[in-house]
Amino acid sequence: MESASSWLGQSFYDSWFIFFISSLIIITSLIFFILYFARLRLWCTCEICQTYIQSKWLNHFPNLCDWYAHLLKNSPTRTVHIHILNNTITANPDNVEYMLKTRFDNFPKGKPFSAILGDFLGRGIFNVDGDLWKFQRKMASLELGRVSIRAYAFEVVHQEINNRLIPLLGSFSGGDKTLDLQDVFRRFSFDCICRFSFGLDPKCLELSLPLSEFAVSFDLASKLSAERAMTASPLVWKIKRWLNIGDEKKLRRAIKLINILAQEVIKQRRKFGFSNQKDLLSRFMSSITDETFLRDIVISFLLAGRDTVASALTSFFWLVARHPRVEAVILDEANNVIGPEKGPTRYEQLRELHYLHAAVYESMRLCPPIQFDSKFCLEDDFLPDGSFVKRGTRVTYHPYAMGRMEEIWGSDCLEFKPERWLKDGIFSHENPFKYPVFQAGIRVCLGQEMALVELKSVAISLLRKYHIKLVEPLDNPRFSPGLTATYRDGLQVFVQARRVAP
Ligand code: HEM
Repeated sequence: MESASSWLGQSFYDSWFIFFISSLIIITSLIFFILYFARLRLWCTCEICQTYIQSKWLNHFPNLCDWYAHLLKNSPTRTVHIHILNNTITANPDNVEYMLKTRFDNFPKGKPFSAILGDFLGRGIFNVDGDLWKFQRKMASLELGRVSIRAYAFEVVHQEINNRLIPLLGSFSGGDKTLDLQDVFRRFSFDCICRFSFGLDPKCLELSLPLSEFAVSFDLASKLSAERAMTASPLVWKIKRWLNIGDEKKLRRAIKLINILAQEVIKQRRKFGFSNQKDLLSRFMSSITDETFLRDIVISFLLAGRDTVASALTSFFWLVARHPRVEAVILDEANNVIGPEKGPTRYEQLRELHYLHAAVYESMRLCPPIQFDSKFCLEDDFLPDGSFVKRGTRVTYHPYAMGRMEEIWGSDCLEFKPERWLKDGIFSHENPFKYPVFQAGIRVCLGQEMALVELKSVAISLLRKYHIKLVEPLDNPRFSPGLTATYRDGLQVFVQARRVAP
């Protein structure tokens, strides 16, 4: 009897305790929400903010990035401020140079961004600032500069193309079978970057096999982490994470699985030796012993080098399929440089394909894989065009809009014209602050060269074997919201084998 009453009493106090804690959470959340929305200045009645709040831009533009491009084109400074987001957006190359080089230290990634990707990327290079970033940058630049790692990247990409990509497209060629090229490129780039960074082959392009647990978890973790950035306030996902519910529960599970797999790979590598392995992880293992740190560095590389490459390839094939003249010039150049039948098996041959190189740059000018990129302003500052940036707010440079600026690219800026990159038939670089597709300045992309080798190798190998036709000749693709440009409906194509010249 006594124990029943004490049990009842205990249960009564437990209920009160739960009620008290829940009320506290709700009240605190409400206060935070009120403060957050007050900070957002949701009452702002300016036309731009109202168009944003009410999504009125959808009446005129297929994508948010098209609306931003329109706003930036019409701004005399090529900079706009979205008050409700506390975000200054710019397409002005002088401003871009200022934030990415001149005043680099005043425009780090910042804590809000790092928090969003923190559970997934940990302290990996992509997600940190300061000394932690400097150390990884130095070490990674050293490793990626070695001839042996470039040769390894080339070997991985060509094996994947010859053994998987070409046969896969072949199995879809002829007839009326359609193929989602975006999905194929996502699988391809994941296989490549995993083998390059981890020495692990997830075999995503083997359609007969189910997707590996690692690939599924990685996909889910990057998608759910990116979605955190789209919640009305970071508090929403932070509370869900604290309560371990909904998407946050799924994210935690996916990250746990990635960690188990990563730890297993590191353990095996330590056991069986890493000094004669060619992948990035093995190279880092000789200077780093902390396993979590090793995991973080490698996962950052996977994220950086996967969706970007897939996005660039998808846009390249979308644009080339709509411009048969460009396709013909690419094929002519390949016939002259490589010969009519052989594939480009040598690195040096790729370097001689100037028109192809120009076409790849041109496709990323119009369709940059990372359409915009934000930094966080540490101290009050003025950009070179006179725009004031308040400390604690975001500044975003917008490569998608910059690729559509007449004053940068001329009156034909909306046309797909690889010739604009050639001088006497030789590829010529543009000022990187006018073309920050790989970012620019002090934190420029570390995988740029590897990405270009990958893009050109896939482009030339597929174009020489297959004619790729769009199922629907879309004028303006619709993008899904996310960190990297992804075609909302994929890229559906027909594949036709080319006749080999007699
Ligand atoms: C077309 C393909 C690619 C594009 C357009 C691209 C673009 C970019 C951009 C815009 C950034 C800056 C992001 C930021 O700081 O917010 C970046 C950083 C980075 N990229 Fe790439 N990337 C590509 C491929 C690759 C590949 C294949 C790798 C790996 C081998 C790679 C490795 C990295 C790394 C490690 C960083 C972080 C650099 C740092 O913070 O110091 N990227 N990339």
